[in-house]
Amino acid sequence: MKLSRRKIFDEMGVSPYWVLRGAPEATVRFRKENTSFRDEMPESAEKRAPLPEMPVPDAAPESAAPMPRVPPTPPSPASSPEREDSRAGEIARMDWPQLRQSIAECRACGLCAKRKQAVPGVGDEHASWLFIGEGPGAEEDARGEPFVGQAGKLLDAMLDAIDLKRGENVYIANAVKCRPPGNRTPENAEMSICFPYLKRQIELISPKLIVLLGRAAVNSVLGIESALSSLRGKRLHYTEDEIEIPAIVTYHPAYLLRNLAEKAKAWEDMCRARELMNTLP
Ligand code: URA
Repeated sequence: MKLSRRKIFDEMGVSPYWVLRGAPEATVRFRKENTSFRDEMPESAEKRAPLPEMPVPDAAPESAAPMPRVPPTPPSPASSPEREDSRAGEIARMDWPQLRQSIAECRACGLCAKRKQAVPGVGDEHASWLFIGEGPGAEEDARGEPFVGQAGKLLDAMLDAIDLKRGENVYIANAVKCRPPGNRTPENAEMSICFPYLKRQIELISPKLIVLLGRAAVNSVLGIESALSSLRGKRLHYTEDEIEIPAIVTYHPAYLLRNLAEKAKAWEDMCRARELMNTLP
């Protein structure tokens, strides 16, 4: 059953909502109930303040200067730089079936030891939208699909708010494909070892826009370790080899479930992502 947009916002604790004048219906604004500026909201639509402009710098801001992707993977008897290079080279030549099989059988880092199964990703393999999270949790590990737990429900609602649907022009992936024990944040070394898979997914999908959900995804994909709040509203770029794809950052849905007050910001980010997508060729 498809929930109405109003119902979704109500359930998310985000209301009221309205449509930007002259903007597509999907371009909506959000306000968290009981925030101080709720009282300041003008009554008439004409008086409503416009959505703050999204700064669109051509490059990452100074505070977000690209850093080495992640600290180097500590050497272990099972891995050496040469071995990692040759593994990355093999992955870079894989097609979708080979990639899925390789991910399913991967034993390149310690996360394989406790997983039930690897979780490659889900959705349209030629999607314009690519959403990237952190790593599978318990439910994802059990079902083999990303974002199927509580955080996934919120992600689905966020997609719905900008007229997107899982699997329809949308692909959802994670920085690491195997569940970190206890749902801990993946370590840099784990994300680094898993990155060739994500990189190949990005190449094969060739999305128009990447939406990064949370700090781990930002770190894995952009190599930036700045606070998420300093990156929101900025138009960043994923740049690898010859590829350059715009990227937008927002809070991870699991973080939003714990920090309800930040939901309104995430909704704004989603609106900005939609607005940006509408301008992309
Ligand atoms: N959190 C994530 O980052 N990814 C998932 O797939 C589920 C929860």
